[in-house]
Amino acid sequence: MSDLIKCPNCLTEHVADLNIKPGDKRTFKANCKTCQLPLKFKLYQVDHRGLIEQDYIKFSINGIEYTVSNTLSPRTTLASYLRDTLNMKGTKIMCEEGGCGACLVNAEIFDHSDGQFKNLSINSCLFPLYSCDGIKFTTIEGIGCKKTGFNDIQKRIAENNGTQCGWCTPGMVMNMYNLLIENPRPKKKEIEDSMDGNLCRCTGYRSILTAMKSFATDEKPIDIEELNKLKCLNKSNQCLKTSKNNIHLIKEDEQWFTPKDIESLNSLLNQYGSMAYKLVSGNTGTGVYKNDGPFQIYIDLKSIEELYEIQKYPALVKIGSQVTLNNLINVFNDYSSSPGFDYLRVLAHHLGKIANRGVRNSATWSGNLCMKNIHQEFPSDVFICLETANALLTLTSSNGISINATPLEFLSKDLRSRLLYSMSLKPMSDQTIIRTYKIMPRSQNAHAYVNAGFRFEIDRNTQTVLSLPSIVFGGINPSFSHAFNTEKYLVGKSLMNESVLNSALEILKSEIQPDNDPVLASPEYRVSLALSLFYKFVLEICQNKINPKFLSAISSIIDDRQLSQGTHTFPDEDPSLYPVTKPSPKLNAYLQASGEAEYTFDKVASNNQLEGAFILTEKSNCKIDSIDDSLARNLPGVVKIIYAKDIPGKNSFLPEPFPPELLFIEDQVDYAGQAVGLILAESHQIALNAAKLIKLKYKDEKPPILNVFDGIKSASFFPKPIDDFKYGDPDAALKNSPCIIDGDIFLDSQAHFYMENQNAFCRETEDGYDVHCSTQWIDLVQNGVQEVLGLSTCNRVNVKIKQLGGAYGGKITRANITATAAVVGCYHTNRPVRVALNLNTNFNLIGKRFPWYAKYKIGFGTDGKLLAIKIEWYCDAGNSPSDNSMSVGPAFVDNVYNCPNWFISSNLVRTNLPANTAVRSPGFFPSIAIMESMIEHVAKYLDKDPLEIRQINLYKKGDVTPVGQPLDYFNADELINSIRKTSDYDIRLGIIEKFNSENRWKKRGISLTPIKWGVGWTGAYYNCSIAIYAKDGSISISHGGVEMGQGIHTKVAQVCAYELGVPIENISIKTADSFNNLNAMTTGGSITSELVSQACIECCKIILKNFEPIRKLLPSGYTWVDLVQKAFSMGVDLAARYWLYPQTEYPFRYCVYGACVTEAEIDVLTGETQILRSDILYDGGKCTNPEIDLGQAEGAFVMGMGFWLTEKIKHDPKTGLLLTNGTWEYKPPTTKDIPIDFRINFLKNNPNPLGVLGSKAIGEPPLCLTPSVAFAVKRAIEAARKEINKDEFFTLNSPATVDSIQQLCLVDYRQFKLF
Ligand SMILES: Cc1cc2nc3c(=O)[nH]c(=O)nc-3n(C[C@H](O)[C@H](O)[C@H](O)COP(=O)(O)OP(=O)(O)OC[C@H]3O[C@@H](n4cnc5c(N)ncnc54)[C@H](O)[C@@H]3O)c2cc1C
Ligand code: FES
Ligand code: FES
Repeated sequence: MSDLIKCPNCLTEHVADLNIKPGDKRTFKANCKTCQLPLKFKLYQVDHRGLIEQDYIKFSINGIEYTVSNTLSPRTTLASYLRDTLNMKGTKIMCEEGGCGACLVNAEIFDHSDGQFKNLSINSCLFPLYSCDGIKFTTIEGIGCKKTGFNDIQKRIAENNGTQCGWCTPGMVMNMYNLLIENPRPKKKEIEDSMDGNLCRCTGYRSILTAMKSFATDEKPIDIEELNKLKCLNKSNQCLKTSKNNIHLIKEDEQWFTPKDIESLNSLLNQYGSMAYKLVSGNTGTGVYKNDGPFQIYIDLKSIEELYEIQKYPALVKIGSQVTLNNLINVFNDYSSSPGFDYLRVLAHHLGKIANRGVRNSATWSGNLCMKNIHQEFPSDVFICLETANALLTLTSSNGISINATPLEFLSKDLRSRLLYSMSLKPMSDQTIIRTYKIMPRSQNAHAYVNAGFRFEIDRNTQTVLSLPSIVFGGINPSFSHAFNTEKYLVGKSLMNESVLNSALEILKSEIQPDNDPVLASPEYRVSLALSLFYKFVLEICQNKINPKFLSAISSIIDDRQLSQGTHTFPDEDPSLYPVTKPSPKLNAYLQASGEAEYTFDKVASNNQLEGAFILTEKSNCKIDSIDDSLARNLPGVVKIIYAKDIPGKNSFLPEPFPPELLFIEDQVDYAGQAVGLILAESHQIALNAAKLIKLKYKDEKPPILNVFDGIKSASFFPKPIDDFKYGDPDAALKNSPCIIDGDIFLDSQAHFYMENQNAFCRETEDGYDVHCSTQWIDLVQNGVQEVLGLSTCNRVNVKIKQLGGAYGGKITRANITATAAVVGCYHTNRPVRVALNLNTNFNLIGKRFPWYAKYKIGFGTDGKLLAIKIEWYCDAGNSPSDNSMSVGPAFVDNVYNCPNWFISSNLVRTNLPANTAVRSPGFFPSIAIMESMIEHVAKYLDKDPLEIRQINLYKKGDVTPVGQPLDYFNADELINSIRKTSDYDIRLGIIEKFNSENRWKKRGISLTPIKWGVGWTGAYYNCSIAIYAKDGSISISHGGVEMGQGIHTKVAQVCAYELGVPIENISIKTADSFNNLNAMTTGGSITSELVSQACIECCKIILKNFEPIRKLLPSGYTWVDLVQKAFSMGVDLAARYWLYPQTEYPFRYCVYGACVTEAEIDVLTGETQILRSDILYDGGKCTNPEIDLGQAEGAFVMGMGFWLTEKIKHDPKTGLLLTNGTWEYKPPTTKDIPIDFRINFLKNNPNPLGVLGSKAIGEPPLCLTPSVAFAVKRAIEAARKEINKDEFFTLNSPATVDSIQQLCLVDYRQFKLF
């Protein structure tokens, strides 16, 4: 800040002793102290060289220009500015890690590399606000909305049923918007590739891909006019320019600089180099390493033009450090046709596997390498590529000295006051071969478990290694990157020589010493994988001369994945029931696509609301010794910290009759991640920062019990959740069984991964408390709040919920945590309080799917007929038995199979984990999966196709199950026969056998599994209210179900439209609340849509009955409005309410049936998997809305695939802390993890006589068809084991991640042969 004022009269220089803050633009008045001349002056910031510094940034959003000065912290992201400052809630956030794509916006940015403006999709959750100078942003609000019209992308995603909860939808739309702006004529492949960073937990992606691919030129090209319409709302042509001045912004003790040239940068480094500073390139590193810092100084490199320079010469290509990864890929691809540079294509391909499109648009190669420098364990793909390619890096120092270093040398350089300036690459000889590999936990948008690069100069005839090769690995341990010994050994050797290969593998094995970091894949796998990758490389080099069976090792099933496609058929529509049975988009799909659908997370209570952040424990199974919160209390913006003692009522977020679950711990710490208290602050960021300052001391630390096995060992149990179940005489039957086997299976946990994290806000009103909560169960929130506040009556608590951004069972009871915390905060501060969890807290604090472990004994005949089954199963409840679902086990475990004798002992294990809770098909799914696994075991024992065992044991129509359920409509046998034919199961079995016999390192498998899924209505209770407005006959409905993407609102509206005979457009579904929807049970169990529809039908009946006499008074041809108005004029009540409390004689009202055939392929050497095809035949009755039901089936199935293949929960064995608490480590399926060929057929002409208007439940049962995925993979593993004569039975536990698949294939480098 310049503080010298020169008098123009006497030239005296004065020091301004005013209390001027940075950014202060006022005009000041004073008299010259020498000549008394009245002076008027303003202060400008200048740097120490006297250059004017600009203390604001300018950018535009949807055509409106914004100027921001020193008002916000340099850590403010664009997403939080959009959402919190501008209140533009269309842009969603979920992970704030660049991992989910919910926050994508379009940025028109000047690209210094080629001097052009470019449109880029960027993750606004990582993009710093202060980097926005000169950028034109378009957000979801800018491309189409209800008032001005939706744009084509929004329409197509809505019309193709590509939205369910809708949380991911704005991000999907913006990604496509950007693609079309940049490339109006994309091919399907480009579209599919572009979606690598957009996660959706609801839809299973097929519908989204269909919508987006409808823009493909190989589908139906979009014309230019349409494209212009896409851009319609962002009409502003104003050309923003980045400032020419250096930018300097200050907020409290943090400063942001944007230097415009290297000289300015160096002077900043000289000035601040000894402080905690950070150079900012793309800032995407904060998505991976969130806890770096805190920093006082941020220096943005984006405006230094020379760092974007790309110089291409025949003998050199030199690339500046600010070139982004996507630009680098383009440069590499472009330059790969130049002599000697063809290897750049290999590197470009590898770099395309880094992160996702949005991240690669911002992230620079230099930022990536510097991350590796700072965090040496980071498995950097840029490092692998550049080290393999022998790149030379140039580093500059603030003192003007530059040095060159190889990437490896660079890792040991101190980066303080240094800039990674550029890299250069040289051409390679014709004999040089470069190959790189990256093996990830899922097919895209994931870091490497192990990555590798090989550069070999080879004699192409003899495959002799001509010079010192380069063998580079990542993911082994922080200090290992080169296999130096193996490199040395191979010089002068021929790779065609098997003994050379064997020796090289031996040496390599001895060099590879992986660390045992529990968050990584196992050390055994990583060694085996490293050896396998080397073997793959050697096979590729020698491919013309090797045994053709080994060629299968060379290709990548991930790279070679075909475009995915989905087909489906629906049950016949019944026009007499329209709009019921008509496939139609969801009512609010367009609003979801335009970002206008409002969720609790989007609500703002008022300007003076406080934000809450939980203080979480970091250890488990111990006691709190002391809490030091002095630093947090003194942090500006912190208003209050509350603990258990501050709870005015009961310290339990769950009301009676649930067993109490502490909102805040008292002294005993059950699990790491448990809530100690809540910090209330003026902003969420302040609250989170304060939470980090809390120092917790622990005592009485004991080893944590983190799984059922530890629990069993330590006899850590809750009381048995249900009595032992006995049917027939299992002991006698076992004794007499010709065959008896025993075995076990473990099914691990799964996170809900709803994209709207748990959140609630609360406001005190004269009536009591208004609570908005993202909950599946309004009543439970109301009762929980009443008890935690100690209110005498619950009518003082008003709960509201419009819709959820996903739930899958996770917001049944757990939603009470945020709601009760918010109300206690509100009680103490007398201010509105919002408690919205970030993803990491959500992961740490909230329980997940119950892991199940089953030990079984099966008696059966030599034909495979089941005679007796005894199961002892254990369920990992976490720290509370509240939500356990073991009681449904005995009713589901038989699945479609008739076994005359059963014994089941259910045990609930208490562990040091958060209380596990319902996740889509809780209890039902593990029971079915365990049964299917037992069938597999029987088949293996008898050496028969498991399908044969399945079929021989099927129930028959009219059978009664062990829990007394008559199967009067049993049709699983028909479904199996039908899908067996339509999927060509038998033909494909033969094809697969041939494939497996011809390919040593790729194997395929196919499996058919069926389901019976009992739908229980007894004990359910829901209401529906209908109000008809006299003025125009329009209708409002309020019902006890919660919309969470399953389309309940649409189905109820359809039913109402049919029953009353009115257009569906006349109907509006209102926000559910605790007044209109009192006493309703949770939305869940796949029953709510049907039962609420039934309640709606009953309401309609009441209304129609009331209208009956009126009709007679009207002339023929009367309209609905005539009828309504006449009724009104005669004093008829135009509203109706119905309370539904169904009772059924049997455990289930009816059963849902289905069957699925899945074919999988695995890469034996890496464990990578592709699901080639899944066919589902589903008995959905007469679907109320087949489009919605299809979406539910696809979404549930893909969620089940995630359970089996990619989603792994890991805890620190010492502390119990969750290690997989974000998108970096936890991997739900992406667009390229779904079946490549996905066919879903709904059984035709099969209305459900026991359902509502012939329908059947859909939300959860299709997930239970995914054992077919697991067993298809298992078949492939068996084929691999057959190759080494190890084809014995083994259990496939979940999840079968790449590492466990590869290990189950028993890969051993001694099996690696050439001929
Ligand atoms: C969701 C996600 C997935 C990812 N997946 C992968 C993956 O699969 N493989 C992989 O390799 N990477 C992956 N990454 C990492 C990603 O490539 C890096 O975030 C990125 O390259 C960092 O670049 P940046 O420009 O954003 O750096 P920044 O985040 O801006 O900076 C990172 C660090 O480097 C320093 N720095 C930046 N530039 C310079 C410079 N020129 N000189 C000196 N210091 C500098 C910064 O001060 C900071 O400490 C992923 C990241 C995300 C968010
Ligand atoms: S919120 Fe930005 S990528 Fe997830
Ligand atoms: S619709 Fe995609 S996350 Fe819900």
